Amino acid sequence: MKLRSIELALPDPAAAATFMTEIWGMAAAEVQGGTHYLRGSGPFPYLVAFEKAEDEFVRSTTFVCTADELEALKQRIAAAGWTARPTVSEDLGGGQGLLVELPEGTILRFLVGASEAEPITGRDLPVKLTHVVFNAADAEACGEAVEDILGFRVSDRTKGMVFVRCNDSHHSTAFARAGFASLNHVAFEMEDIDAVMRGIGRLRDHAMVPAWGPGRHGPGANVYAYFIAPFGPVVEFSTAVEKVPEDYKVGAPEDWTWPPNRIDQWGISDKDFDGLRRAEERFRFRRDWDAAPL
Ligand SMILES: [Fe+2]
Repeated sequence: MKLRSIELALPDPAAAATFMTEIWGMAAAEVQGGTHYLRGSGPFPYLVAFEKAEDEFVRSTTFVCTADELEALKQRIAAAGWTARPTVSEDLGGGQGLLVELPEGTILRFLVGASEAEPITGRDLPVKLTHVVFNAADAEACGEAVEDILGFRVSDRTKGMVFVRCNDSHHSTAFARAGFASLNHVAFEMEDIDAVMRGIGRLRDHAMVPAWGPGRHGPGANVYAYFIAPFGPVVEFSTAVEKVPEDYKVGAPEDWTWPPNRIDQWGISDKDFDGLRRAEERFRFRRDWDAAPL
């Protein structure tokens, strides 16, 4: 199973797409019915979709899986007494599968049969999404829910986050102990540390500085730089998070402490806590299945 894409609704999708293609560094894939699809260098047809809506919200976060994985997911959801809804994707790449609404309104979509695209070479693009992180009123309950309902595995718990994996990458998602439910950030996996740094350089050309970073995280050990996108959400340039073995020992908050004045491995950058917090509050979830794709 792999994290593929996030589908966001917002008032000005064209402006968001322009920032992401001309400054952040994605490739335009297609515009269909007013929805802008943006891709990276990898084989997914798109990584981010922007559709027009009056409010800002997260329509869905999409994973792709095999038919066997989807069947196992169906059985697990039924065994957990949870509800899922069949879906046929009308997004670029198509596919069909299931929509699952998590306890705090996050809608995850699992697709089989979605088409892939020819990888793009020779351009400085993100490869794919490495993780999408959600704020939660109760991050522990969300972590337990995705373990029980979806078969995901908690990799680590820190003072701030519950990190969850759906394959051998340390985390594809995480739930932040925020006290409210919303999109925390979207992380784009860059080819290597130089590609992360060149990304920071591109934004610097446009007078934008990281809200946090560059730095290297503890859990996942990825190099990161977080920015507040002009259209609202927090976006991250990241290297790949580390791969973990099947028997990875789940870390507890006391396993992930920092020396005084440090919140990452390097300690070279400040963090704009207030700015990030405001940006993290913007994209909420619609506790309304009708807002999700059928
Ligand atoms: Fe991240």
